[in-house]
Amino acid sequence: MRITVIGTGYLGATHAACMAELGFEVLGLDIDPTRVASLSEGLLPFHEPGLPELLGKHVKSGRLRFTTSYQEVGAWGDVHFIGVGTPQRAGDGGADMSFVDASTVALAQSITKDALIVGKSTVPVGTTRRLKTLVQDNKRPGVTVNVAWNPEFLREGFAVVDTLTPDRLVIGVESREDEAVLRKVYATALAGGVPLISTDFETAELVKVAANAFLATKISFINAFSEVTEVIGGDIRTLADAIGIDTRIGRRFLNAGIGFGGGCLPKDIRALQARAAELGVDRSMRFLDEMDGINLRRRERAVDLARTMLGSLSQSRIAVLGVAFKPNSDDVRDSPALDIANRLSDEGAQVWIYDPAGNSNASRRSPQHHYVSSTEDAVKNADLVLLLTEWDEFKALTPEGLSVQTGTRKIIDGRNILQARVWEDSGWSVASLGRRYVTTQTTHRPPSEQLQMSSGPAV
Ligand code: UDX
Repeated sequence: MRITVIGTGYLGATHAACMAELGFEVLGLDIDPTRVASLSEGLLPFHEPGLPELLGKHVKSGRLRFTTSYQEVGAWGDVHFIGVGTPQRAGDGGADMSFVDASTVALAQSITKDALIVGKSTVPVGTTRRLKTLVQDNKRPGVTVNVAWNPEFLREGFAVVDTLTPDRLVIGVESREDEAVLRKVYATALAGGVPLISTDFETAELVKVAANAFLATKISFINAFSEVTEVIGGDIRTLADAIGIDTRIGRRFLNAGIGFGGGCLPKDIRALQARAAELGVDRSMRFLDEMDGINLRRRERAVDLARTMLGSLSQSRIAVLGVAFKPNSDDVRDSPALDIANRLSDEGAQVWIYDPAGNSNASRRSPQHHYVSSTEDAVKNADLVLLLTEWDEFKALTPEGLSVQTGTRKIIDGRNILQARVWEDSGWSVASLGRRYVTTQTTHRPPSEQLQMSSGPAV
């Protein structure tokens, strides 16, 4: 069985390399010749642990190739996966389906032997049925081209393991034959005990958006309680631990902080609301608007805390540790950390950023900041430090170690990873998202001459 993958972004490149790892011959297609040239040399244009090795190995063996030609793909492949992007549409926040539609039409027109098209992109419910018609209208006569949906649940930073050994496989199919084809594709995972849920198109599409909506809700749920503990006191981490012990709730995705970002959760909950409105069930998904609002308020809160700690942001010098939307990634799409850095500089702060992988993507989007290659360079001469992405090297920071590198003793923990009491005992003023912060002294400009403020105890 020959497999093709249309679109070699995050999802497509990972899927292509993993399919080759499973033993298939794979041809990846992208309309961007620069990307195709880079991948053909075994060079991955983004950061993902473990993926460069797989790509290099299978490009070298010849099992994995890349092209810009639909003709080549259509004549060669038996199963065609679609992994192109569905970015947020301007206006109503719905999914922009132009890439999925264009690639489906181009593929249908190029297929010269019986084949199965399998969508993996995150799409509005109803898409597969619509694409089925599009394929029938555009395919060549005499060729049978079926359509199926197989949503992808991979997390950045764990993309390879999530693709090779996912928690579950979900397929939306219309025939036993199409299911049998996908069972063959995923034979290794199925033999390893990964459950397969075979269902209709609509359920398969909804499983993906429902999973992301649930995860976004879980994060915003704990962050809503952060807003309460910030006022009355209490320890948000203990609260999360205590409710998370209940197996009906579970502890994962209850880490309070500056909230969710990235290329999926924010856009997917907005696209789901837009689709619900089209279907006349907007009230059913209206709670997601509140989740989005809680999430965005966390970013404002981080800026408010910085303003409170410094008196004024204007002409202050702020070190931002971590700018990727999450650790083990260089992705800064809708990154809460980068958004906070931008808001700080909008208010006149000079922002010095260090991220182990995200600097170059961030500097392309927000060139107004200073990007440096170590914590030490970022915090030197800073008036305040903001810890915004929980990379391991930031988790390992100690108050004594950081004190040697900077004169300031003020830090905002945007991810609740520091032991605040330990830092305070070493003379640091610590503000954490979800923790009550009490200033005892506030004076104004210049920040470097301000009196030390101390945070109040968590009540
Ligand atoms: C997500 C889904 O997890 C994945 O299944 C889907 O295929 C794509 O979207 P990803 O975007 O890689 O994956 O990131 P994820 O690990 O889910 O984190 C999303 C955001 O939530 C990050 O900004 C992260 O920092 C934040 N987050 C996560 C929290 O703020 N608190 C948590 O407890 C967990």
